[in-house]
Amino acid sequence: MSAEPIPLARPVLGEAEEQAVLEVLRSGALSLGPRVGEFERAFAEQVRAQLASAVSSGTAGLHLALRAVDVGEGDEVITSPFSFVASANVAVYERARPVFADIDPVTLNLDPGAAAAAVTERTRALLPVHIFGYPADLPAFERLADSRGLRIVEDACEALGAVHADGTPVGGRGHPTVFGFYANKQLTTGEGGMVTLSEPALKERIDSERNQGRAPDMGWLDHDRLGFNYRLADLACAIGIAQLARLEGMLAARARVAGLYREALAEIEGLGLPCADRDGDKRGWFVFVVGLPHDTDRERTVGRLAADQIQSKPYLPAIHLMSFYRERYGHREGEFPVCEDVAARSLALPFFPEMTEGQVARVAERLSASLGR
Ligand SMILES: Cc1ncc(COP(=O)(O)O)c(C=O)c1O
Repeated sequence: MSAEPIPLARPVLGEAEEQAVLEVLRSGALSLGPRVGEFERAFAEQVRAQLASAVSSGTAGLHLALRAVDVGEGDEVITSPFSFVASANVAVYERARPVFADIDPVTLNLDPGAAAAAVTERTRALLPVHIFGYPADLPAFERLADSRGLRIVEDACEALGAVHADGTPVGGRGHPTVFGFYANKQLTTGEGGMVTLSEPALKERIDSERNQGRAPDMGWLDHDRLGFNYRLADLACAIGIAQLARLEGMLAARARVAGLYREALAEIEGLGLPCADRDGDKRGWFVFVVGLPHDTDRERTVGRLAADQIQSKPYLPAIHLMSFYRERYGHREGEFPVCEDVAARSLALPFFPEMTEGQVARVAERLSASLGR
């Protein structure tokens, strides 16, 4: 008999979410209804932000956040090459240029020193990514932004639950900060996103642009600016509200699974583990990504795990080496050596709140065997 499959991710959904969806269905207010504001207020409170705007995806939120800080044609946005491609694409949407800088080899986040060296007269914004839920060094980026007159937009799509050393939750520092609610995230609405922020004028712009450029006091077919359909439906918001109520438990469960992995994988020689929390920063656990030893054939490792019914995925590829970015901007190997080394060896293992000790042990044992350890 073959072993039970272990997926990469699995959301925690239950009766509360079912009930929440049913209530919206029965109310008939499927979109632009009361759940949107409710979800926004509850989410803002969760990350101690003043304001929040619900949007249809993390990508949509990043796009609107960049527009809200006036990133436009010819501007440069400094960001991490070690991220999901959306954090760079959103600058391209606005005919701005994503300018990459290398990452810190420990936290895997954009290195503030490298970002500072990449600033030019055209730089308009910094877009640090809290990769794998580890807080980016916002105090350093804030100093850089202040000294060079730049705006900050944070990509926290992977970082719900992360906390900065000064106790501020990621998303609560006042800069437009974007969360994502795709099905593998700490909190899911299927698809969805949230922008947290502190400036009412920016929220007004985002709320208008997510709704085809209509101001709150305007009629149904009246539009005074360019907009998009980036709304989040009430059905999704209702799921989000139910998920928020169980968030602390889900985050604690993810941290528990990470602890189990750390113990189970400690003995595998040459295997890199996610950095431990340091200097007071606290990770919001999203994925468990290991760095394979230098001599490993990653494809073979993935294949061997798959043969044992264990899903794993190279995560993440370097953005600047993707064909679109090579062709459009002339990027090539060797530009960001830390990112390239990490990206060539990183592997995401199955990771979800309800993972059992037995499942973690099986992944660790099969990974160790596939590495010949
Ligand atoms: C770092 C990062 N940025 C942006 C996104 C885009 O979010 P979404 O898939 O909700 O558009 C994601 C999630 O997939 C992500 O992980």
